[in-house]
Amino acid sequence: MKAELTCFAPNCRASFPVTAVLYNCSRCGGLLEVTYSGGPLPPEELKRLWLDRRTHNNPIDQSGVWRYREALPFLDDEARIVTLREGNTPLLDAPRAASYAGLDRIVFKHQGFNPSGSFKDNGMTCGVAQARRLGMQRVACVSTGNTSASMAAYASAAGLQSVVLIPHGNIAAGKLAQALEYGARTLQVEANFDQILKLVRVLAEKLGIYLLNSINPFRIEGQKTIVIEMLDQRGWAAPDWIVLPGGNLGNVSAFGKGLRELQQWGFIRKLPRLAVIQAEGAAPFYEFFRSAGSRGFEPVLHPQTLATAIRIGDPVSWPKALHEINTSNGAVEKVTEQEIADAKAQIGLCGIGCEPASAASLAGARKLVSAGVIPAGADVVAVLTGNLLKDPDYIHRYHTGALRTPGGTPLESTYGNRPVVVPNDPEEIAAVLAH
Ligand code: F0G
Repeated sequence: MKAELTCFAPNCRASFPVTAVLYNCSRCGGLLEVTYSGGPLPPEELKRLWLDRRTHNNPIDQSGVWRYREALPFLDDEARIVTLREGNTPLLDAPRAASYAGLDRIVFKHQGFNPSGSFKDNGMTCGVAQARRLGMQRVACVSTGNTSASMAAYASAAGLQSVVLIPHGNIAAGKLAQALEYGARTLQVEANFDQILKLVRVLAEKLGIYLLNSINPFRIEGQKTIVIEMLDQRGWAAPDWIVLPGGNLGNVSAFGKGLRELQQWGFIRKLPRLAVIQAEGAAPFYEFFRSAGSRGFEPVLHPQTLATAIRIGDPVSWPKALHEINTSNGAVEKVTEQEIADAKAQIGLCGIGCEPASAASLAGARKLVSAGVIPAGADVVAVLTGNLLKDPDYIHRYHTGALRTPGGTPLESTYGNRPVVVPNDPEEIAAVLAH
């Protein structure tokens, strides 16, 4: 199959060589996607091949991204690939979370099991492979913390330098720690994510640094494998709904593209419906979708949420996300800080856990069930995008009743689990444990 970069805008569709260093269409400014001419091998053959690779020791077969390489054949040479064995994330049944959401059953696809603890690794292994193919020495991104952690890890593993720009004071401690430990040049900019995205694009151009935000279409190719692996794990039975949090809207764009391709290539018959969930204080896509075309897309100038991963007011990939929600007959919902915090505690009580943004998926599923959009008996997969340990400060505050909204309103510690200080005395400890 031949790969090209193609403009996503339906009235343009200009195409460019796969080796062009481009992040937007140079004709109309639209978003770009990687397209392939011709289909891959027949589905039954690929399903067998992909299953068989799970038993191999070859590093790229062990990767939950590159195992599916026939579905993302953009590289010229497999030697470009650096893998940390990304993907390979489990589907976890969570009966307690299901009853919380009002569903008979819910399954979590937990992307927090990735090497750097988030779904960004699925895309980053591809973005870094493309950077190497293009002969780039340096890579850069703006990030709410997970993209930067992932980029820093893969860049260092590949011997590239990484430059990370993060909104000063607004990323979770675990994520900042990762960028430092993986060796990224880390710049804490006094601006928000949306402003820094504009800045990093200027810097990338000026300094010849390869941009690895999700506007980079090769990242999206890697993130497609989250749904490919999900379907593989389910014996290629498509769920009714896939629910995920939305920030810059790259992930929902990747899921939609992956699912449409699987349908086109004959792997699945029906498309699962995609539900994207935003935090109430950073919900421009929700508001736009709800307006049903009666107004243009309006960014939120001062996005606010404790789920800092999705604190984004001007998501670049909204045209792709809109296409995927419409094509899959999907839904867009928004959830409050309290709903996120309580859903997160429920996921913890399943023995699973996740970071705040990830819990928007369960909170959103619950809301869509109570609104009658998702029926109680539906087959639902909710995606947990990041690991519990990314944001320990939030957890401690929630359980000790010290969590406040960005506006300063205290949140209820509904499922709080306060640690207790006890003396070094068995009698007294026994007395505490008697209650
Ligand atoms: N969940 C987590 C844990 C994230 O880190 C992000 C995005 C999202 C959900 C939203 O995904 O942007 O594709 O809609 N984090 C980016 C970052 C923006 O910089 O790490 P999206």
